[in-house]
Amino acid sequence: MTKTYKIAVLPGDGIGPEIIDQGIKVLKAVSEKFDVNFEFTGALIGGAAIDAEGVPLPDGTLELAKNSDAVYLGAIGDWKYDELDPAIRPERGLLKIRKELNLFANLRPAVVYDELVSSSTLKEEVVKGVDIMIVRELTSGLYFGEPRGIEKRNGEKVGFNNMFYTESEIERIIRLGFNIAMKRSKKLCSVDKANVLDVSRLWREVAQRVAPDYPEVELSHMYVDNAAMQLVRNPKQFDVMVMENTFGDILSDEASMLTGSLGMLASASITDKGPAMYEPSHGSAPKYKGLDKVNPIATIMSAAMMLKYSFDMDREAGAIEEAVKQVLKAGYRTYDIMSEGKTLVGTSKMGDLASEFVLKN
Ligand code: IPM
Ligand code: MG
Repeated sequence: MTKTYKIAVLPGDGIGPEIIDQGIKVLKAVSEKFDVNFEFTGALIGGAAIDAEGVPLPDGTLELAKNSDAVYLGAIGDWKYDELDPAIRPERGLLKIRKELNLFANLRPAVVYDELVSSSTLKEEVVKGVDIMIVRELTSGLYFGEPRGIEKRNGEKVGFNNMFYTESEIERIIRLGFNIAMKRSKKLCSVDKANVLDVSRLWREVAQRVAPDYPEVELSHMYVDNAAMQLVRNPKQFDVMVMENTFGDILSDEASMLTGSLGMLASASITDKGPAMYEPSHGSAPKYKGLDKVNPIATIMSAAMMLKYSFDMDREAGAIEEAVKQVLKAGYRTYDIMSEGKTLVGTSKMGDLASEFVLKN
């Protein structure tokens, strides 16, 4: 009997539900075409969970996630929660599930499709052929360091966070960066701010210490401000980049614009044990909610990453990647990547097309 892979589906807020629907369509096409079975079970997270249960990550959702083979997440957040106590804001649900599942590495591939070179705001010769893998540390650093807070000191308020890393936390993400580099072009750029931050000096020290274990990989170091500049000046110099949580949050949004749209950037949040989580890198875009307008490709490509990284289904993942390329080649575009002479389609149609191409191939 073929195994059934259990997928926890957490659509979240804003455009989350509509983009996740497209990913599920495509996964259903994959199971129709190949001999694989998926079982989808939905649960609430983020604002949707706050509305229903008063907390952004209900215990039942976490339980479901832990007992699944993979988690498929849409997006989180809505401005209607902006005034909430920070402890129960929608984003807290996302940070908590990352931490609870120990998803210490976030892989964000920024790949520029030939069909979309003209969608980027940068010059064609700068972006054509870009293929970067950003490896973002996801469960520590500035996002999680203690102490943190806002308090009164000497008659005024002070706010503080703490960029904190243990040596072992740095080592596991750096080693993962090296391992990914081994499977690609054997170039790893470690991004830090070692000229100013102590935590970055430790980061660099650890990177240099483990480097001899990967003699084939060429390791370089770059300050984060310079990396932000180099990403738009000459992105093709990069292959795999590894960095702290906040640096990765910022640089991955920047890298997405090389590809033409934030709507193209998939992501995988992985761990060494237990289920991984797959989600687009973009947010919940509440103003587009329910309009059948946004680009579901990042979410569809996140499903491909799920098949590849969690289920070892390289062939099936390849079928999704190929289908997306063919949809673009056939000239279909959502509004964010639209250009003259192409066919404008909505979210749902884009999902249908990707599914059709999976079945056709
Ligand atoms: C991301 C998002 C999240 C983050 C938000 C929604 C908490 O920006 O996944 O990049 O900051 O990590
Ligand atoms: Mg972000």
